[in-house]
Amino acid sequence: MRVLVTGGLGFIGSHTVVELIQNGYDVIIIDNLYNSELDVKDKIKDITGIEPKVYIKDLLDKKEIENIFKENKIDEVIHFAGYKAVGESCKEPLKYYNNNLVGTINLLDIMKKYNVKKIIFSSSATVYGNPGVPKYSESLGRGKTTNPYGNTKSMIEQILEDLYKSDNIWSIGLLRYFNPIGAHESGLIGEKPVGIPNNLMPYILKVASGELEYLRVFGNDYNTHDGTGVRDYIHVVDLGKGHVKALEKLEKSGPGLYIYNFGSEKGYSVLDLVKTFEKVNNININYKIVERRPGDLDEYYADSSKAEKELGWKAEKTLEDMCRDSWNFMKKQK
Ligand code: WQD
Repeated sequence: MRVLVTGGLGFIGSHTVVELIQNGYDVIIIDNLYNSELDVKDKIKDITGIEPKVYIKDLLDKKEIENIFKENKIDEVIHFAGYKAVGESCKEPLKYYNNNLVGTINLLDIMKKYNVKKIIFSSSATVYGNPGVPKYSESLGRGKTTNPYGNTKSMIEQILEDLYKSDNIWSIGLLRYFNPIGAHESGLIGEKPVGIPNNLMPYILKVASGELEYLRVFGNDYNTHDGTGVRDYIHVVDLGKGHVKALEKLEKSGPGLYIYNFGSEKGYSVLDLVKTFEKVNNININYKIVERRPGDLDEYYADSSKAEKELGWKAEKTLEDMCRDSWNFMKKQK
């Protein structure tokens, strides 16, 4: 089967492409290099022995998307491409709505035109809003999201649901990720955030490498076991494997709307992650407790039992694996 992966040179995209190739898929990538680097395609080849076909194009250029569908017989799509920084989305909402929504609609229009009606969308636990319970199951349904980034995830899920209702030949997977961290064991691919990181692990890595002086811990007065925020961290390789399982589900079960949480079903606090990172890598991470970051919730983690039951997928890697693999990748960066 030939799968088009949008954003396939990015952090989650590249790890998914590796798993797809290793499971016999013929992969084509479209990526605009906004948050990725072209040499990731060489790293994918180093890992798998196969270099995927790459188009350095933007989903906002509808003609270019159509050219890809004209030149290649595409069977299905995994859609990662989109801006994802919560803070930036609050400062530049129009940039986020235009890029994430228009880009997606362009892609879906061309898929419809070429009768390609299988798509997996990279969604997020953020679509649950603040449901008031720590353990998130798919049955909670979407809640009120609190920033433009989260709004676009929720809106795209709605667009895909409406598309399915209008034409139930579509096979649509909505995969809600919790907090992806880690890196491929080879250390060849991983997360390379541009500038000052928003997310916790990339920030820890910059402190560990000496690029940043200390980690700011956003609040220690949350209603959690140690007062710092608790999240469900999932190894990006487990996530990549989950996408293969989800694609197999769409191929096997045919048309439908399939929604799954992808998490480890465990909650770890900021200080749990810091201490585990220090232990596993024998590195001290300086940190200071500072005020809460607006919009952060106390604690949430996945109920991924539906993915386990219906996809035969379960996260296997530990927090120690995530900390070790992240640092192993970071050490290899120039
Ligand atoms: C995790 C915990 C912070 C940074 C967001 C998006 C989600 C997904 C992942 C994008 C929180 C604390 C963080 C720091 C800190 N999408 N923290 N100091 O906010 O759970 O989820 O990113 O990829 O859709 O909502 O992730 O890593 O920013 O924060 O103390 O410098 O670490 O308060 O408790 P978050 P995060």
